[in-house]
Amino acid sequence: MRTKTIAGNWKMFKNLQQSEELILGLTKALDFSLGSVKVIICPPFTSLGLAGTLVKGSPIALGAQNMHAEDEGAFTGEISPTMLKSVGCEYVILGHSERRQYFQETNESINKKAKKAIASGLIPIICVGETLEEREKNITDLIVSTQVRGCLKEIGAADVEKTIIAYEPIWAIGTGKTATPQQAEEVHLLIRKLVGQLYSWASAEKVVIQYGGSVKPENAKELLSQPNIDGALVGGACLKADSFATIVKSATLS
Ligand code: 13P
Repeated sequence: MRTKTIAGNWKMFKNLQQSEELILGLTKALDFSLGSVKVIICPPFTSLGLAGTLVKGSPIALGAQNMHAEDEGAFTGEISPTMLKSVGCEYVILGHSERRQYFQETNESINKKAKKAIASGLIPIICVGETLEEREKNITDLIVSTQVRGCLKEIGAADVEKTIIAYEPIWAIGTGKTATPQQAEEVHLLIRKLVGQLYSWASAEKVVIQYGGSVKPENAKELLSQPNIDGALVGGACLKADSFATIVKSATLS
């Protein structure tokens, strides 16, 4: 049984005060039984320290949105995995399409970060997904498979089983266009089969594969009830406590 995992990617939203309000709102809104559902929030770096203090003892786990692949050094403007650990992070989003697009991240650099994250005791949430153009050219499978292979290179089976893969079709991010549950399920199954080929079916069955791209309270339940959709990576809808809590609730029901 895979743990349904709902993560909120706050992106570059919320200053310190707004972060505090959102986290306090969330701890109130998550007043129902979460069962085995895992909830993760990924605020911006400037809010992680405070967030770490606020979520302590709550069912909310903390993640970052990026990290550098070294523990320390002369890398102006970067944040290391050990720094993330020191403020209570357990997860780190790696290779989000926005980082691939605006910050030149590649499967190779994401793989380097993923290996470092694992070695540092952080669970990577590795993002993959095709552009609209690639989907229209019918090369979604090739693109996503290449990303998964590249990002998982040299990661052992025991670690891959703990790694989260987030399928986020770029055309569905922030556009209001969601992949249909069938479209998403198809790619999720492809990813799972690929992990099965690269490792073993036993490993593939353990990997949590999240869907991301315009997940909202209105569509979460149907997406999350697909057999290979094990959770969601939520952008816009995680910035309000109520809508994020409603998505979490859908996970407890699906
Ligand atoms: P939206 O939910 O705003 O489409 O963003 C998805 C996303 O990029 C999460 O990482």
